[in-house]
Formats: sequence, structure tokens, C-alpha cells
Amino acid sequence: MAEAKKATKQYVYKINDLPFTPLVEEEGIVTQFILGDNIQISFIQNPPGATFPLHKHDAEQILIIMEGSEEHIIDGQEVHMEAGDICVHPGGVEHGGFTKTGFKGIDIFSPPRYDEGGHVDRMKRYGTMPDENGHYPANKVETTTPVWFKGVVEAILKANEKK
Ligand SMILES: [Fe+2]
Repeated sequence: MAEAKKATKQYVYKINDLPFTPLVEEEGIVTQFILGDNIQISFIQNPPGATFPLHKHDAEQILIIMEGSEEHIIDGQEVHMEAGDICVHPGGVEHGGFTKTGFKGIDIFSPPRYDEGGHVDRMKRYGTMPDENGHYPANKVETTTPVWFKGVVEAILKANEKK
């Protein structure tokens, strides 16, 4: 029964069911990815005090802050962002940020981050890629508690060691 179900193409997901992928291990920054053919969405959580290092990539990125705030840096400009704020990052423009409060946000990438060491590589490294029918692996850590997922990176690293 379960096998027949897996053979069916999946179109609808619950964010809480998507597996966590660490993004910046040493800062405890994690995300849950949805990967499309030409677009990738990242439900990102940065714990309080986390720094997302400055970086750039060819894919265009749009960040929407849903909860909390960040001192965001884009193209050398520092901008305070909080819930409801949106930043459009053209491809190749350097960006990063620091969050005192922690924040939850949605990052949209087009095309998906296929760059070396980018988000798709991370999904492969952490075993969070969907299969050909769009089924994602089960999460290795509890996701039902809407708190800052401090400790998630450690939990995932530990779970990966056991494999
Ligand atoms: Fe980025």
C-alpha cells in the first residue's frame, strides 16, 4: 500500500513535513527546501545572534521576512528588515546579514541554486532531495514546535553520522 502511494506523484506538501537542511552550520541556520524545475523555495530559520555570511550567486533571490528581524546587507547597503519586508537580490549581488532577534523567512530562488556548494548540493549532501515523484525524505528531527530550531544542525549532523 505504502509503495503504491510512493509511486504517485506528489504535488501538495506541509512545510512541517519537509526535511531540514543546514545552511550555515556554525550559526545554527537551517531551512526546509521545496525544489521545482525552475524555482527553489527555502523556508529559512536564523536563530537569535546568527550571522549569515556575505555571499553571492548567479540565481536571483527574493527574501521575505515572516517573523523577527535582520540587519540585512545588500550591495554594501545595510538595511533593517522585519516581518513583512522583502528584499530582491539580483544575481551576482553580494548579500548577507545579522539577526539579533532571530528570524523566519521565505527565500525564493530562480533558477534553483545549482552553483557548486549551493543549495541543491546541500540537499544532496544532507539527503534531503525529493525523489522522481516529488517525495521528500522524512525529517530526521521534530518539526512540530514553532520555536527557533537551535540545535537542529547538531541533531542533523548526529543523525547523518549514524547512517
Ligand atoms: Fe543568497
